[in-house]
Amino acid sequence: MALNITENIDGIFQLIGGNFSTAGEASTQLKHKLAEIGVDEEIIRRATIATFEAEMNVIIYAAAGWLHYYITPGSIKIRIEDMGPGIENIELAMQEGYSTAPEWVREMGWGAGMGLPNMKKNSDTFTVDSVVGEGTTVEMVINFP
Ligand SMILES: Nc1ncnc2c1ncn2[C@@H]1O[C@H](COP(=O)(O)OP(=O)(O)OP(=O)(O)O)[C@@H](O)[C@H]1O
Ligand SMILES: [Mg+2]
Repeated sequence: MALNITENIDGIFQLIGGNFSTAGEASTQLKHKLAEIGVDEEIIRRATIATFEAEMNVIIYAAAGWLHYYITPGSIKIRIEDMGPGIENIELAMQEGYSTAPEWVREMGWGAGMGLPNMKKNSDTFTVDSVVGEGTTVEMVINFP
């Protein structure tokens, strides 16, 4: 069932690298927004997981970034772009278990190498673009049932 909204809805959050104290805020706010407009619970669950993983990667690896979401009656599109080191080998980074997270990040419980695979698993369309030394852009679309 397509979503009963009369206008497209979009929003943007700024993400700051290294700012673990606010980690998860963007994905939590997006989750509330989706609930408020009556998005299917399973879609909210998938969008929240995918967004949270992308948000964490910006906080862990990049200097700063933006999370932009765009909701139409048929889908939600989420774009996370960052200014950071970029990803040298995307195919490798996409493999389950691959991680370059440093020890102090692993001690906080991150660095299982599951973030990118989980984003892909939870979205209907998933792309990563990256330029080494400039940054990374992840785009995900989740279609409404
Ligand atoms: N935004 C990014 N900028 C630079 N490198 C990234 C970015 N996102 C991911 N990477 C690289 O890709 C690897 C795999 O990312 P992924 O999210 O799958 O796992 P992880 O972050 O290492 O661990 P987890 O997500 O399970 O906590 C990272 O270890 C890092 O090397
Ligand atoms: Mg990750």
